[in-house]
Amino acid sequence: MKILMVCLGNICRSPLAEGVMQHLSDEQRLNWEIDSAGTGNWHVGEAPDRRSIRVAREHGIDISRQVCRQFRQSDFRDFDHIFVMDKNNLQDVLSMAPDRHSAEKVKLLLVDKEVPDPYYDNNQFEPVFELIEGGCRDIVRELGEH
Ligand code: 4NP
Repeated sequence: MKILMVCLGNICRSPLAEGVMQHLSDEQRLNWEIDSAGTGNWHVGEAPDRRSIRVAREHGIDISRQVCRQFRQSDFRDFDHIFVMDKNNLQDVLSMAPDRHSAEKVKLLLVDKEVPDPYYDNNQFEPVFELIEGGCRDIVRELGEH
């Protein structure tokens, strides 16, 4: 199973989602391949935001070696599922989908609500981590083979 996590900058939310999902996959020996990307290109080549690195570390997950990249059309071919953080990400990713099969791979991580952008509020990183962790656990329950 190949899963891609997508947000706007690929420095705050989707790196956390990649880290949490990789951690759950490793823990449950699912052998899933996880990656993340941003719809924007401002931070390409950078490490995740220090605040995301810190909150992940507080939960026992190291995301410090991730490198930001931009979402690209070939991701529709290369991944089985593409989970986005908010409705803007959904719109941006869907606008690049070459066909219906590709579009059907794209879903909000939290199904019926958004993961808010914590970039401008230091206090949002912990609640955002918890939202993302809940979403990832639900996905493992739904897609994991037991
Ligand atoms: P993210 O947060 O989408 O969760 O990575 C953001 C990080 C940076 C910017 C926007 C959102 N930015 O505009 O630089």
